[in-house]
Amino acid sequence: MTELKRNLGVWGAASISIGAIIGAGIFVLIGVSSGLAGPAVVISFLTAGIAAFLTALSSAELSSFITEAGGSYIYTHKAFGKFWGFLVGWMQSFDYIVGASAVSIGFAAYFVYFADIQSSQAVIIVVGVILPLTLMIINLRGIREASGTNNMLVGIKVTALIMFIIVGGSFLISHRDFSNYHPFFPNGISGALSGASIIFFAFVGFNTITVLAEEVKNPEKNVPKAIMLAFSICTLLYIGVSVVAVGLVNWRILETSDAPLEAALKAATDNVFLLKFISISALFATASVVMSSILGGSRALFAMARQRVIPAALAGISRNGIPIRTVLLSGIIIALIVVVSQGNLDWLASIFNFGTLMTYFFINLSVLRLRKKMPDANRTFKVPLYPFTPVLGLLTCFVLAFYLNLNAVIFAGAWITIGVAAYAYNIRRSRKDNKPV
Ligand code: ALA
Repeated sequence: MTELKRNLGVWGAASISIGAIIGAGIFVLIGVSSGLAGPAVVISFLTAGIAAFLTALSSAELSSFITEAGGSYIYTHKAFGKFWGFLVGWMQSFDYIVGASAVSIGFAAYFVYFADIQSSQAVIIVVGVILPLTLMIINLRGIREASGTNNMLVGIKVTALIMFIIVGGSFLISHRDFSNYHPFFPNGISGALSGASIIFFAFVGFNTITVLAEEVKNPEKNVPKAIMLAFSICTLLYIGVSVVAVGLVNWRILETSDAPLEAALKAATDNVFLLKFISISALFATASVVMSSILGGSRALFAMARQRVIPAALAGISRNGIPIRTVLLSGIIIALIVVVSQGNLDWLASIFNFGTLMTYFFINLSVLRLRKKMPDANRTFKVPLYPFTPVLGLLTCFVLAFYLNLNAVIFAGAWITIGVAAYAYNIRRSRKDNKPV
């Protein structure tokens, strides 16, 4: 059985993407990027949002006529053939997994902080391993259960960000004290751009739903709509949160705080319930990113297994219609990487960034190629200002990749080398068995 079940409507689909977008970025990295940009972190959010939006548009176009599960793997496969498709799929699955490991470590750090447990590397690793394994079990129960849990987590974090904007924004307006916005560019334009290159990653995740396209009802219409819906909701929330956060406190307070949003809101209210709610939401936010990464990573691997570019045995589907083997594989590898990395979040995050930019680059390139290769496909959504938009999209990916450290390139390069070797081996074996890839 290799058919997935179509259980998701447009809101369920958008919720999967929001689940993947709002996470460690807005709750944690806002502090790091405020440290680089100052109050101009608002400009960093805008710049990063525009860069990500260009790829979101390309994703929406591709998902409007390619409705198989697999996301950028399938798009690149159709545009450039099996090898390039494999390479992007390999990178995409790796990215989901490494990203989920990084966010699991973020969850563990928060958990230790809020549960008031004595923090140690061992505790961080244990919590960071328990989270993905628990979410893997929920994923095994089926997309409906996974989607139900995801909707709840999304509801909580969206509510927290809205409350932050309302409570903090009302305080700013009623007190008419806007002194924290001056000077707006303490570190110049380059500070704002460095902030953008970090906070770009708060926007990553919008195309998770393209990987699950076969589980969406009427995917030609619902998937592009869900991408745009999720992206718009998150961008509005991000801009609102950043404007309020740097208005409430000096940006240096955000820079040095472990829980920057709670630190900012303390300036507006001493309501413990509200402050704790914001912080606990960070736990839900990171958990839901891990949840959707397991969903995305398992489907990306499933799509490759079904096309025999990785062992076909991985393409098994359980009776409740989920790719059980790749779900198990993803959950276990995420947990293993938490252990192997010794809880090093920064290290994993930069590797994750490189892989993301590479897949985004290919998404934009695939739009250009497929407009020529499949000109008559029924595109229910088209990127505006073609070819300007996808060209700008792939250029921004290229430029942002330059900001990453060499470690990320070395580890991603090693992963690609392993992938190419595995691919070559698999092709040779399939030829021998007379089962062409
Ligand atoms: N966008 C996701 C986050 O912020 C990866 O955690």
